[in-house]
Amino acid sequence: MVRDFIRDRLYASSEGYFQKEDHQVGQLSEPIEFGQLLGYHAYRQQFEQRYPQNAWITPSEVFKPYFGYMVGNYIIENWYQNKYKNIRIVEIGPGTGVLAESIIEYLKMNAVQRRINFDYHLVEISESLCKNIEQRMEDSFPSLIKNEQIKVFNKSILEYDISTKVPTFVIGMEILDNMPHDRLYKESEDVKEPWKYQTTVELNKEGGEEFLQENIEEINDEWCQLYLDLHSRIPKMDNIDLAKEMDKLGIFPKLSDMWRSLTGRRPLKDNIFIPTETLRLFKHVNTIMPSHHLVLADFDSFIMPRKSVNGINAPLVTNKLAGPSEWESHDTYLIDQGVADICFPSDFYYLRHSYELVTGKKASHMKNYEMFDKFAVSNWCETQNGFNPMKEEYVNTSFLLS
Ligand SMILES: C[S@@+](CC[C@H](N)C(=O)[O-])C[C@H]1O[C@@H](n2cnc3c(N)ncnc32)[C@H](O)[C@@H]1O
Repeated sequence: MVRDFIRDRLYASSEGYFQKEDHQVGQLSEPIEFGQLLGYHAYRQQFEQRYPQNAWITPSEVFKPYFGYMVGNYIIENWYQNKYKNIRIVEIGPGTGVLAESIIEYLKMNAVQRRINFDYHLVEISESLCKNIEQRMEDSFPSLIKNEQIKVFNKSILEYDISTKVPTFVIGMEILDNMPHDRLYKESEDVKEPWKYQTTVELNKEGGEEFLQENIEEINDEWCQLYLDLHSRIPKMDNIDLAKEMDKLGIFPKLSDMWRSLTGRRPLKDNIFIPTETLRLFKHVNTIMPSHHLVLADFDSFIMPRKSVNGINAPLVTNKLAGPSEWESHDTYLIDQGVADICFPSDFYYLRHSYELVTGKKASHMKNYEMFDKFAVSNWCETQNGFNPMKEEYVNTSFLLS
């Protein structure tokens, strides 16, 4: 299946994109001094000066420690509302460990006054990133490591099997976009026509070279079927709700479609990439941690470059070049192992409702700026003229919360 192929390209033990020693999740050379900056231009200048070469960085890193403080605040609010005593935090794909460091720092700042008791599990699939995380946690929180209040697991979250009934916050920032997806096709682009085919990837080797091609067959895979079943059961949006959703997504999808039309590549609607591994994640988390809250954040849309994969919810396939805004894109996900990131936008409306159907729990989704308004302190990351990049940048990101 396509998801198995993507898993291999991103996570295969030595050559996968996230497994390489020069892994592509980076760190700023120094934290940004938001309060010292006049406004947008000064922020961009410092951002670019401190940006690492050949790596991506995430909001947890750009806005450290405040992005983690915002998530920490969400945890504390829920903790008090629900009158929990002890809690566990399980972070999926912590990358460099920056979010964990900020959240733990924030919980510790509030610990004495609010009698907070927690342990923290970091579950990271990449061996090389895991080594860095272990070192970072040792350096920052030696006594919590010694007391086994912080534990690092080098495995996929789907293999993490520590069951608990303790209330658990399951956190993952920018992990939905790298979850392997499947691809479905239909006969034409007619919206009313049902999805009919699932896709497999055939790999042939000849003289040391790999030849890759897609094949399609009638849908019989259980996860593709689950996707379709859930899709048919999620509440249909009326025109008002649809307009609100589109409004929240902003101009990204429209610009993307317009750009493709202008460059002679009409967006294709006869195929769709679907988040099958995320559905597995929802089921798995709910089975082993029945008392969990979910806190996931990621991209809800992209402006697709001219050279890109064509289809609904298609991934950006890119590799990072040296400069902060330099990257190269591919028009297929059928790439050699480890050469590029395969990064999907998430349909938060679908994810929220499918999560509710799979787990029986209530969930909500909101844009990054709404999360900021509810759980951040307004002057965190504010520059002198009032521009606040933590609220105003990353406009194409959303949170899924339960
Ligand atoms: C884009 S990075 C985000 C890193 C970090 N969460 C942040 O926001 O800075 C995605 C991370 O998720 C990890 N990852 C992806 N799939 C995973 C899985 N199934 N289980 C655990 N970690 C995973 C990758 O190795 C990588 O470190």
